[in-house]
Amino acid sequence: MKSGTFFVLFFMLPVATEAGFWDFFYKDDDLLCFNSSGLEKDLRDSLFGQHIVYDVVLKAVTSFMTDSNPNKPLVLSFHGTAGVGKNHVAKIIAKNIYENGIESHHVHMYISEYHFPHKVMSDLYKAQLKAEIYKSVSSFPRSMFIFDEMDKMQPQLIDVIKPFLDYEANIDGVSFRNAIFIFLSNAGGNVIAEVALDFWREGKDREELWMNSKELETKILQNIFNDKNSGFLHSSIIDHHLVDHYIPFLPLELKHVRQCVMTEMHHLNMIQDYDLADEVARDLPFFPAEEKIFAVKGCKSVRQKLVLYAD
Ligand SMILES: Nc1ncnc2c1ncn2[C@@H]1O[C@H](COP(=O)(O)OP(=O)(O)O)[C@@H](O)[C@H]1O
Ligand SMILES: *[C@@H]1O[C@H](CO)[C@@H](O)[C@H](O)[C@H]1NC(C)=O
Repeated sequence: MKSGTFFVLFFMLPVATEAGFWDFFYKDDDLLCFNSSGLEKDLRDSLFGQHIVYDVVLKAVTSFMTDSNPNKPLVLSFHGTAGVGKNHVAKIIAKNIYENGIESHHVHMYISEYHFPHKVMSDLYKAQLKAEIYKSVSSFPRSMFIFDEMDKMQPQLIDVIKPFLDYEANIDGVSFRNAIFIFLSNAGGNVIAEVALDFWREGKDREELWMNSKELETKILQNIFNDKNSGFLHSSIIDHHLVDHYIPFLPLELKHVRQCVMTEMHHLNMIQDYDLADEVARDLPFFPAEEKIFAVKGCKSVRQKLVLYAD
């Protein structure tokens, strides 16, 4: 009985609606109905010490995902030192858009030194990247592209992405307005850390630091602009104002690293032990040398450190 019903359904469907058939099996399989409370909950529960990121990402992603007719793709640029949550937040965003999250076949992740390692092959990379972005968006408008180590990417490659980011971008009849681009980089990370340190030294509360305090956003921009080694800069993305938000990730303090250790204990099915978490967190390097306020590698390698303590 069951297989008979399946047989009929399977062969009836494509006859009834040819396009719907492929939508059913391929196109819409993965897209979630966007729920901003879900995103808010994930950011609140699993992102530590990043109140600026929380605020900007929640507002930017929600307004974009609930806009039925955006005039350009969403372009976010994440900045901060290593291990402060840039990849983590990209994953949280993907998780709230696709059923398979970052593993979705609509999410395309590029790590510059891994995917584009050889300078001499840049013409080939350019052609491949352009074709892949075009093909993905033409078959699925709500595609996501994540570029890690954006500052290490060759300017010519960044320039390939540029036409896709523009207002009313429409290339050979394909619109890119529903796509999402996220750039991750360490560019500006040192400036962000300096501002956070100044703030701490003045005895101010971390949560009082906002984009406009101490001209944080301007400082980040100037810093990426003046970094001669950063591919970002030599490309035309910045001067064309195609990035919607430059988002600063603050360096993490001991209490945030401790929270990361507690989370890892949970992942590793260990009993959550505050004292042990504190011990593991304190065992990681902190800067500056005298005051030891911020974790040098953020929450990176917390798990590796923790397993040494597990029995
Ligand atoms: N602010 C944070 N809140 C919660 N977890 C974090 C945070 N920063 C880093 N982590 C944890 O540390 C790991 C490494 O961070 P990642 O996001 O890869 O850092 P990066 O900023 O270098 O991209 C993540 O998988 C995540 O589990
Ligand atoms: C949205 O997410 C929240 C929190 O996870 C949940 O309580 C709510 O039921 C969801 N709403 C819809 C319409 O799915």
